[in-house]
Amino acid sequence: MQIKQFVKLAIGRVRQWSGPAFAIQRVRTYDEYVRTQRAGFEAKRATVFARPENIAAIASYAAARGPVRSVLCHGTRNGAEQRFFREALGDVTVLGTEIGEGASTYPNTIEWDFHETKPEWIGAWDLIYSNSWDHAFNPEKAIKAWVSCLRPNGILVLEHSEHHTVAHVRDLDPFGASFSGLIKFCNLAAVPRSVIATLSLPYRLNDQRAVVIG
Ligand SMILES: C[S@@+](CC[C@H](N)C(=O)[O-])C[C@H]1O[C@@H](n2cnc3c(N)ncnc32)[C@H](O)[C@@H]1O
Repeated sequence: MQIKQFVKLAIGRVRQWSGPAFAIQRVRTYDEYVRTQRAGFEAKRATVFARPENIAAIASYAAARGPVRSVLCHGTRNGAEQRFFREALGDVTVLGTEIGEGASTYPNTIEWDFHETKPEWIGAWDLIYSNSWDHAFNPEKAIKAWVSCLRPNGILVLEHSEHHTVAHVRDLDPFGASFSGLIKFCNLAAVPRSVIATLSLPYRLNDQRAVVIG
């Protein structure tokens, strides 16, 4: 790791320890939230934040616990993470939700607000993943919805990085948390589930880590 990167990570960690555990910026109305997210989607259609090596590490953690037949990803933009999960796990069912207009044209993607569930998703998924939880309008509702979709032995994995911290809260990313703040928040919101592990991820340029809820 370069010295500049090390210093950046160290400052980020100190900010996380010393600042608020989490923060929510109330977007005025739900319609305004959807408009903001869709504009962000349009502006960044080609961008991919998820890293294949991190998705592979999450897939292999999940597979070590038991068979992974189905993966649901939330806030997937152009569908790259669905592809990475299939590369890691083989021919399993993978679906991504994305609020951006026209998102269903991407493979294995449904244009959908991740705060909502479909009846057939309840208790149906082995692995649920998101690096987009900081885009939630109502993070408590989103996390409750996501854990309701887990199979009894299923896990929810939330990726955290420098970009998910309170310092980055704004209209497009209305929720932010330190890593320990995210753990606390999940333990409150995910009941009867709770945080069972944390993962260090192989690609960690932006201090990527993950929280596992089971
Ligand atoms: C930071 S980007 C991450 C995209 C992708 N996961 C990646 O790694 O490149 C967040 C994505 O979540 C989407 N999003 C925001 N709110 C959403 C919602 N309520 N339901 C579904 N997708 C949402 C945004 O449109 C955006 O594409």
